[in-house]
Amino acid sequence: MPGMLKTLFVFGTRPEAIKLCPVILHMKSRPEEFDVRVAVTAQHRQMLDQVLEAFRVTPDYDLNTMTPGQTLASSTARILAALEPVYLDSRPGIVYVQGDTTTTLCGALGAFYARIPVGHIEAGLRTWDLAQPFPEEMNRLVTGRLAAIHFAATEGARRNLLRENVASETIHVTGNSGIDALLYVRDRLVSGELTSGEPDLARFGAKTGKRLIVVTAHRRESFGGGFENICRALQAIARRGDVEIVYPVHRNPNVMGPVNKYLGGIPDIHLIEPLDYVPFVDLMRRAHLLLTDSGGIQEEGPSLGKPVIVMREKTERPEAIEAGTAVMAGTDEHRIIAEVTRLLEDPEASHAMSRVHNPYGDGHAGERIAAASLSFFRRVQA
Ligand code: UD1
Ligand code: UDP
Repeated sequence: MPGMLKTLFVFGTRPEAIKLCPVILHMKSRPEEFDVRVAVTAQHRQMLDQVLEAFRVTPDYDLNTMTPGQTLASSTARILAALEPVYLDSRPGIVYVQGDTTTTLCGALGAFYARIPVGHIEAGLRTWDLAQPFPEEMNRLVTGRLAAIHFAATEGARRNLLRENVASETIHVTGNSGIDALLYVRDRLVSGELTSGEPDLARFGAKTGKRLIVVTAHRRESFGGGFENICRALQAIARRGDVEIVYPVHRNPNVMGPVNKYLGGIPDIHLIEPLDYVPFVDLMRRAHLLLTDSGGIQEEGPSLGKPVIVMREKTERPEAIEAGTAVMAGTDEHRIIAEVTRLLEDPEASHAMSRVHNPYGDGHAGERIAAASLSFFRRVQA
């Protein structure tokens, strides 16, 4: 149809899927304006499918590239090559990529080679250190260089792009579409329209009355020593006897190996498989605090009013730290234990960090991305 924007969404991992599905569903609800196609690289297989099922999104192209224990170079090469025929076949007016993964970088680079404009969703986050997060800081930088239109979640992200001389008229502050997904699910869990669907989860903390700590960790720069420190800290925290630690373990073998070795069979530590998105949001809602190195969970914690202890040395998401609802502990065993102890034993500290606020979005990013895309498209056509 003339005047319609032909879009192609390219993604491959769990967080990209969670953050893009709300945008896809929004654009699909406007069929006169958007022709929406979806290509998944399946850089993740099981953890991607969990999200596609939750949002009932069926890909038009599934490149099925994941191999167990893939290296950065091998997955980059496979994904870039697999995307080329998709771009030639679909010839969209815009390719959307999200975030900072290998799929993000390859999606943008492949579109650049095919001379298709790139829209970068969640643009402009920076630590200014290429070593952390690794390789994500580089992925996001290069994707930003390739993008024609930048959707920044916050004013801070917009300022970062301006520092790199990105043209201001190409930057749109939209909020993070991950918060669209989160608030949608949270509201329906509260109203009872959605349930966790995992009756097993209710057992954590319920009978014992112990406080729940939800843990996730998967960053490459923490593989080895960092992970061993994290595990030792969790062992010490579990020995307190007044908490239950629930840890859905990422499927990366570099994570599963040490986590199962150091934490398997320890009382009050529940190692479980990655959860579907809805039960995971439900679990976060019931937690006393979140202990994580995840990018997405750093954004979700404040919107749920849950204190976040960040197990990284640097973060590209400073807003919650600045607001005092998240705190950096690095991967130092003693700092992690100290921060958790403070939040468990000092009710005032815990209360101050449990404030609900939405620095990363208000639940309407999808609409803003759609509106900015249409005006971009009209400008290009004019
Ligand atoms: C990737 C992203 C990271 C993102 C994270 C989200 C890169 C370089 N890294 O890291 O930025 O924060 O996803 O979770 O893009 N695996 C499975 N099943 C799955 C998913 C992973 O078995 O559903 C295992 C496989 O053995 C796979 C390995 O995990 O080879 C690593 O997956 P990969 O996507 O390369 O890296 P992540 O550590 O998941
Ligand atoms: N998440 C999930 N199930 C889990 C753990 C996390 O659905 O068992 C969600 C979480 O709510 C967030 C996203 O996955 O939206 C974060 O993904 P991850 O930590 O893998 O990647 P990152 O955000 O660090 O790139």
